[in-house]
Amino acid sequence: MRALSTSHGCSRAEIREGAQKFGMMHLLVLLAVVLCCQGCPERCLCSSQTVKCQNQDLDEIPSSLPANTKILFVTGNNISRVGVDSFPTGLEMLTDLYLSGNELESVGAMAFDRLPNLVRLDLSDNHIQTFGERAFPEDNKLQLLNLSRSFHNHSSSADVVRSVLQSGKLLALKVLDLSHNDLVILPDDAFRGLANLVNVSLQNSSIISIQNGTLTAPPLRDLDLRDNSLRYLPAATLAEFSLKAGLRVWLAGNPWRCDCFAEEMLPWLKNSSQAVDAQNLTCAEPGALRRQPLLQVEPSQLKCSGDMEGVLETSYVFLGLVLALIGVIFLLVLYLNRKGIKRWMYNIRDACRDHMEGYHYRYEINSDPRLANLSINSDV
Ligand SMILES: *[C@@H]1O[C@H](CO)[C@@H](O)[C@H](O)[C@H]1NC(C)=O
Ligand SMILES: *[C@@H]1O[C@H](CO)[C@@H](O)[C@H](O)[C@H]1NC(C)=O
Ligand SMILES: *[C@@H]1O[C@H](CO)[C@@H](O)[C@H](O)[C@H]1NC(C)=O
Ligand SMILES: *[C@@H]1O[C@H](CO)[C@@H](O)[C@H](O)[C@H]1NC(C)=O
Ligand SMILES: *[C@@H]1O[C@H](CO)[C@@H](O)[C@H](O)[C@H]1NC(C)=O
Ligand SMILES: *[C@@H]1O[C@H](CO)[C@@H](O)[C@H](O)[C@H]1NC(C)=O
Ligand SMILES: *[C@@H]1O[C@H](CO)[C@@H](O)[C@H](O)[C@H]1NC(C)=O
Ligand SMILES: *[C@@H]1O[C@H](CO)[C@@H](O)[C@H](O)[C@H]1NC(C)=O
Repeated sequence: MRALSTSHGCSRAEIREGAQKFGMMHLLVLLAVVLCCQGCPERCLCSSQTVKCQNQDLDEIPSSLPANTKILFVTGNNISRVGVDSFPTGLEMLTDLYLSGNELESVGAMAFDRLPNLVRLDLSDNHIQTFGERAFPEDNKLQLLNLSRSFHNHSSSADVVRSVLQSGKLLALKVLDLSHNDLVILPDDAFRGLANLVNVSLQNSSIISIQNGTLTAPPLRDLDLRDNSLRYLPAATLAEFSLKAGLRVWLAGNPWRCDCFAEEMLPWLKNSSQAVDAQNLTCAEPGALRRQPLLQVEPSQLKCSGDMEGVLETSYVFLGLVLALIGVIFLLVLYLNRKGIKRWMYNIRDACRDHMEGYHYRYEINSDPRLANLSINSDV
């Protein structure tokens, strides 16, 4: 009789009349379900084309949903799995499906295959660990996918994200919410093929870096990177940002490093209009600049103590000291040997004088024409 009660809106009297025998009753129940599938399922509220089955401890999606349902809320229940059998009749008109807060652990292969017109899917606030291949139909129309707080833990989230986003061609996808997940690193092919993705939130997802190439494919316009673990943005990432005209990025709430690593980021931050919340960015390192707004930091303050520049600087100082010491020792030696040096100089002077005198003498002889002839003759 339980199955009967799920089909309100049907004439129970009629059914009871025919159901004299046990087998006969089963047949009629089936018939009743088929005939009366326009009725509202048990524990759900239906109004026009919206069905709400919220906080009812359901462990699966009600199967007898009105065929003309457009918007379906099955939130705050206890549904651990969604698969191809979750929508047995197919809901041709369904555009919005809300499944948040369900302890959802797995989404099976082809799970949404029978929802050909699904536009918005909310899987937020779950514990998804596995996401089947081709969960979405080939020519799906999905535009918004909410995966906020959707994954189990960080050891698996990044892989699950990849399998979700590559699980079917999400060519229409425009808005993707990946906030409040422990992603750490986004796979660099995560957004590949998402040719219409314009709005991505990665807020509070423990992101430590944006890998080269991650943002190349989608025509992003809004990118929320607030409250992550980013310490600096490398030149390659800034270059990718600059290639996207009209992109707006949110960056506050990250532990920015205000040292030589910010040399490229700071001019970009000061000049570009892409960083929407630029005035809200603060330094976390080094200690001397902690909590200082990044925009108030001067380029000359961006120093690294432990890097190559510093090493070079100290080695120059050392070289200078050594040279100075050598100079002092040299002067000292000169001073101590001043007598010897004086003697040596006299010696040189004397030697010079002797030499000059000898030269002078020879010159005088050579300049006498008679002697010159004589010397020529003697040469012959
Ligand atoms: C949720 O479902 C699981 C089994 O899937 C069950 O063990 C648990 O008791 C259910 N929780 C509630 C609150 O009904
Ligand atoms: C995703 O769902 C959360 C609640 O679970 C909500 O706060 C957030 O606004 C949703 N994101 C989008 C883009 O709709
Ligand atoms: C994360 O999930 C995996 C797989 O379910 C599990 O083995 C691991 O213990 C989990 N780690 C944490 C910290 O919960
Ligand atoms: C950030 O996400 C974690 C889950 O990963 C959540 O527990 C925490 O409340 C979130 N913090 C904020 C400020 O939203
Ligand atoms: C796109 O992102 C911005 C900034 O995060 C947000 O304000 C806006 O509501 C988003 N649009 C949609 C359709 O979610
Ligand atoms: C990052 O990608 C750009 C082109 O997209 C390339 O020129 C650059 O060398 C790459 N950098 C690294 C570190 O891979
Ligand atoms: C500032 O940005 C403009 C374009 O927005 C660019 O033409 C100019 O060269 C930039 N200046 C500096 C110093 O980067
Ligand atoms: C900057 O931070 C303040 C205070 O947290 C906030 O009210 C404001 O909206 C932020 N500005 C932007 C552009 O996000």
